[in-house]
Amino acid sequence: MRQIVTFLVLGMAVISIAHSGDYSAEVDSSRATAREFMQTLKQELLAGMQDGGPVNAISVCNLSAPGIANTYSVRNGWDVGRTSLKVRNPANAPDTWERSVLESFEERRRAGEDPAKMEHYEVIRQDGISELRYMKAIPTARLCLACHGEQIDSTARERLEILYPNDQALGYKIGDIRGAFSISQPLDTAGK
Ligand code: HEC
Repeated sequence: MRQIVTFLVLGMAVISIAHSGDYSAEVDSSRATAREFMQTLKQELLAGMQDGGPVNAISVCNLSAPGIANTYSVRNGWDVGRTSLKVRNPANAPDTWERSVLESFEERRRAGEDPAKMEHYEVIRQDGISELRYMKAIPTARLCLACHGEQIDSTARERLEILYPNDQALGYKIGDIRGAFSISQPLDTAGK
């Protein structure tokens, strides 16, 4: 009996060590990817707007954002994307976990936290697979209002209506949380 108890206690210790692994390096790499994604998108948006205003930039954004996300996914074997509580593209709709994190970001903002610094991560274990899920809030800046604000140029609006008939991503103000970057990184738990 005592042996069984000892075995159980040891077993539990091993499990809890496995659960308390240090994933700070993985968190840092998710953070760096979100930062790079944000910078690349902003550059593409600015360049697109300079070339031909919001109407032109819609095509840039429409094609390039999913493309950039895909490049990061392929490069790292991760799942990288953007999501929101009010999506423009239904393909970006949040899953249950993402929705609860987005809701917690809204609560944190109501409590006075700056969206520009908001992030959340968790190690999720499901069906024997572990992954680090990371989200970083995306605040609405002035640049975003041309396509997500309250007053949108009529040609840009028409273009958006054609591309996204169920668009919910309108009516934002500067400082609102427009959405979040979301990254799932498979973890190698060996030795953690
Ligand atoms: C030129 C128009 C344009 C501008 C400016 C723009 N967006 Fe978007 N945004 C879009 C389009 C088009 C999509 C849909 C992309 C897709 O199909 O995945 C989108 C989608 C998004 C999404 C993904 C979630 C969703 O709603 O589908 C986020 C997050 C987002 N934009 C944030 C921003 C932020 C933050 C800014 C300012 C820095 C910004 N956007 C500026 C056109 C724009």
